[in-house]
Amino acid sequence: MASYDTIIRGGTVITAADRIMCDVGIRDGRVVALGESLGEARQVIDATGKLVLPGGIDAHVHIAQPSGEGIVMADDFESGTRSAALGGTTTIMPFALQEKGCSMRETLKAYHAKADGECHVDVSFHMIISDPSEQLLGQELPALVEDGYTSFKIFMTYEGLALNDRQILDVMSVARETGALVMVHAENYDAIRFMTEQLERGGRIAPKYHATSRPIAVEREATHRAISLAELVDVPVMIVHVSNREAMEQIRWAKDKGLTVLGETCTQYLVLTEKDLDGLGMEGAKYVCSPPPRDTASQDACWEGLRNGAFTIFSSDHCPFRYDDPQGKLTPKGKTSFRWVPNGIPGVGARLPILFSEGVSKGRIDLETFVAVTAANPAKTYGLYPRKGTIAVGADADIAIWDPGKRVTLTHDLIQDGADYTPYEGREIIGWPVLTMVRGRVVVEDGALIGRKGHGIHLSRARSPYAKRGFEGRAQP
Ligand code: URP
Ligand code: ZN
Ligand code: ZN
Ligand code: ZN
Repeated sequence: MASYDTIIRGGTVITAADRIMCDVGIRDGRVVALGESLGEARQVIDATGKLVLPGGIDAHVHIAQPSGEGIVMADDFESGTRSAALGGTTTIMPFALQEKGCSMRETLKAYHAKADGECHVDVSFHMIISDPSEQLLGQELPALVEDGYTSFKIFMTYEGLALNDRQILDVMSVARETGALVMVHAENYDAIRFMTEQLERGGRIAPKYHATSRPIAVEREATHRAISLAELVDVPVMIVHVSNREAMEQIRWAKDKGLTVLGETCTQYLVLTEKDLDGLGMEGAKYVCSPPPRDTASQDACWEGLRNGAFTIFSSDHCPFRYDDPQGKLTPKGKTSFRWVPNGIPGVGARLPILFSEGVSKGRIDLETFVAVTAANPAKTYGLYPRKGTIAVGADADIAIWDPGKRVTLTHDLIQDGADYTPYEGREIIGWPVLTMVRGRVVVEDGALIGRKGHGIHLSRARSPYAKRGFEGRAQP
């Protein structure tokens, strides 16, 4: 009888710490052996000349979130996780968005109903808090953190989502008491509204003015404020989707002070600039996201932050809307001003190939850093390690086999999410994930989805190792 279900033979196994030439033995969905001459298996995958990496973990993904005003996200859980798998990602962390007046428990139930039986890769929900009521803070959140929903996102901008400083302090205080990790979207809401009104008054309404309406100072100020509020409560904080040097410097400053402040950057901030929003006609709407892509100096800063640890995590912030669609980017209102263009761009499938090509193949980051920021660190930060994020005995067999020399022209056909475009169309990529395996089952081979939907499961999570817990009471006066 074969000792293994699968052996991956002849590849170079890369983790955040090591690279070793060895075979990987897999049984019952988990890695059970790393070594040479492992013996017999029912299935042998030849990885000669290839890299064997932990499957990616995309810790910042929006799927099937209601977006108001008749706008519909382009992905459901089937298409979103299909795209993830095609791009070498084996776990995504989408958000369950609490709508005002709604219970978070009910919200999570509704998102599970959308995801259950639909997913190609594993899924674990963060929560978005839009309505920090006494009931939510006092009752629901503590119970939900116990149940394995150990992180939540709050917004400092967006109509209907922005929390004021007092609300942020209250939410952070609950995170401190319960051991949850708070993720912050740091942009100054009032400043954006002020800038937007000025621009509109001057007739500057094209998509490119989205970037003008939220310059770097808007993000830098809010980043500093979020860090300061977290310092008051003595709670760790994750600043998500950082786009530029000045915001990154706030994170660096906080780390140097000894505060537990973590950062995330995303694909768009490495390879897009605000010039991409300046397309002919409305085409710039394809690149409208917040914070907006900046300039090449900001791109350089984000690369630097990935190398030096200012950024712990690299995500896609996948938030897909169809372009040529009145329920997507081109709503009737969206045509009247950038203000109404839904924010967000697709990227769950493109995230890893772009980081590999622009980062590893071009010598900006090494393979271990690639694995750290795309898999090991997200797993550690959000309480999934060592089950996820590494290749080790006992870990889930979530594996992407990469052909480091494969040249691919990136097109939306390869990504196969539910949008009708990719903002990265036409990019020349060197290095591609040729096989994706989720808990021992091959779900993508040679660019084709071969698994059936429903293999992906929901993962409840441990508390973040960064989280502090047991604060008796709120910030001391
Ligand atoms: O523009 C963006 N990033 N949309 C997605 C929602 C968010 O703020 O992450
Ligand atoms: Zn579920
Ligand atoms: Zn955000
Ligand atoms: Zn987001």
